[in-house]
Amino acid sequence: MSEAIVIRSVEALEARQRSGELVAIIRDAVDGGSSVNFLADVTDEVLGDFWAVVADAQEAGRTRLFVAEDVDDHAGGRFVATALIMFSQKQNSPHRADVGKMLVHSGYRRRGLARRLLDAIEGAARDHGRTLLMLDTETGSAGEALYRANDWVAFGVVPGHAYTPDGAPKPTTFFYKVIDPQT
Ligand SMILES: CC(C)(COP(=O)(O)OP(=O)(O)OC[C@H]1O[C@@H](n2cnc3c(N)ncnc32)[C@H](O)[C@@H]1OP(=O)(O)O)[C@@H](O)C(=O)NCCC(=O)NCCS
Repeated sequence: MSEAIVIRSVEALEARQRSGELVAIIRDAVDGGSSVNFLADVTDEVLGDFWAVVADAQEAGRTRLFVAEDVDDHAGGRFVATALIMFSQKQNSPHRADVGKMLVHSGYRRRGLARRLLDAIEGAARDHGRTLLMLDTETGSAGEALYRANDWVAFGVVPGHAYTPDGAPKPTTFFYKVIDPQT
């Protein structure tokens, strides 16, 4: 496997053109049993629709998409991980953003890609004047370990909050992180 993996933002046009690669990353997570909003029988069309809505939000300036790209995978490179930052549109929270779709393809895990994506997300938060980040993840998952290892603060667990792909309700842990605008 190549070591040439680049972390970068992707604009809406490229995200639409390479939707199939983004779909494949969610598919891999669902097939691995991760609780990422979709059930095992989700179709590629539904996953493509999800990314199309994300691209709409990117065009509206509400969301930014970051990826890890294996630039040596083939001539055009391949997206192998994703992360979203979604800026609150509410009047009373111009300082806040949500983080989502932190997904690293199963063939690329434990190589620091999620940590690098979180750094990129924090940089984007600073660029956009956002100092409070929020997210949630399945309790006990690799995601929970990732966020705890990156100084996110867990503030609660909701039992039976979301289904895993096989339809089993599981608890979700909610996290926040305060971002120093100067760092
Ligand atoms: C969670 C996920 C994004 C982590 O991606 P990753 O690139 O493997 O994570 P990193 O290599 O950057 O790990 C950084 C640190 O997080 C922690 N961590 C990550 N995965 C872990 C795991 N499976 N078990 C324990 N700790 C883990 C470790 O402290 C790790 O540091 P280390 O490797 O030096 O010990 C990835 O496992 C994934 O995509 N899982 C499926 C989808 C998912 O659950 N996403 C989260 C939804 S919110």
